[in-house]
Amino acid sequence: MRTRTPVARVTCPTGIEAWLVTRYADAREVLGDSRRFSNRCGPAGHMLANMPPGVPVGEGDFSKMDGQDHVRFRRVFAPAVTTVRRIEEFRPMVRRTADELLDGLAAVSGPVDLHERFAKPLTSSVIAELLGVPYADRGMFQCYAETMFDGRTGVNDLAAVRVALFGYVANLIRSRRVTPGEDALSVLVTRGQAHEKPFTDLELTKMAAGLLAAGYDTTASAITYGVLALLADRSQFDRLAADPSLAAGAAEELVRLLGGGSGLMRVATVDTEIAGQPIAAGEYVVVAIQAADHDPERFPEPERLDIDRQASGHMGFGYGPHQCVGQQIARLELTTALATLPRRVPTLRLAVPQKEIRFKADTTVYGPVALPVTWDEILPA
Ligand code: HEM
Repeated sequence: MRTRTPVARVTCPTGIEAWLVTRYADAREVLGDSRRFSNRCGPAGHMLANMPPGVPVGEGDFSKMDGQDHVRFRRVFAPAVTTVRRIEEFRPMVRRTADELLDGLAAVSGPVDLHERFAKPLTSSVIAELLGVPYADRGMFQCYAETMFDGRTGVNDLAAVRVALFGYVANLIRSRRVTPGEDALSVLVTRGQAHEKPFTDLELTKMAAGLLAAGYDTTASAITYGVLALLADRSQFDRLAADPSLAAGAAEELVRLLGGGSGLMRVATVDTEIAGQPIAAGEYVVVAIQAADHDPERFPEPERLDIDRQASGHMGFGYGPHQCVGQQIARLELTTALATLPRRVPTLRLAVPQKEIRFKADTTVYGPVALPVTWDEILPA
């Protein structure tokens, strides 16, 4: 499609007609220009029946906003979750969590499901610690994230989970207004209060719930799928085991190669064109970031895993004003996992033939359902 019909007319899983953009340069053009291509339809309205693109933008729905309305939210998100100082503060905690999880597995004899026993607890602990929510409550937002990103979830089920989660998060916000701490939620509340247009409780609730929902399954799946890809290309796993300093480059390459999502939706605000294809105002555009990140014009031999590749500039975390707010946290978690797991478990291997690994379907976050693995020995931290 990239070669023959780079802007193709398609029918999406929810029945919506859209233009599918598959080339790297065209994808960047669409995602980088919110004046012509608005987010008001939501990023996944083509995929999730419970988030139809025609619904008006509600209070606090930052992921559907454009321009200054959206910038107001990003300015408050930045100090809470993206600055270098923030990420450095989290680094020791992420390392410790990864090591503790492996220490726990050292007492078990395989096979175990790496997704369930390593990737999910690592990412849910980090997000819980980031927001200062009790670790014991993580089951609720795991359930929320999985329900929200599942294309089979009906409108009523989604509403029920949302009510529960919003109620829970709103309570946390009220407590942070009274006694702020150092966590990301406190930063959101404090910065939000100080803003010239102070943030309402509902706006803050949607921001925090957005972090909880978007920050957990995405990264857990990237870790699990990334480990599978490395085990399938053993020499690159072995290189990481011998030299953990390669982990940051490997993380970047795995996000490029494996991409976790299902395309990003936009709606044209004016009559325009992409690569010579006329697009009328009001028409939907789906940007296939995975196809764009496999564009040989941008990444030579794109299907090949190459942990030495200069993969930066990929769109696995999106591009433009809405690009992932949690990408530095995701990078930290992935890099830590890839620097720790091969080094401490150099004999890690699949416990079933690779063709038996099942993949998630009907969800915006792709990856293996489970990753049964085994090993000879887990080395000390
Ligand atoms: C490997 C892991 C991850 C991947 C592949 C990923 C991917 C993405 C992508 C492609 C977008 C852009 C959506 C668009 O343009 O409409 C996005 C947005 C977002 N991500 Fe992530 N993400 C990851 C991890 C995280 C984490 C760890 C957090 C939070 C701690 C997070 C929070 C968000 C939020 C809140 C947005 C919406 C930003 C906005 O609309 O301004 N993500 N992510």
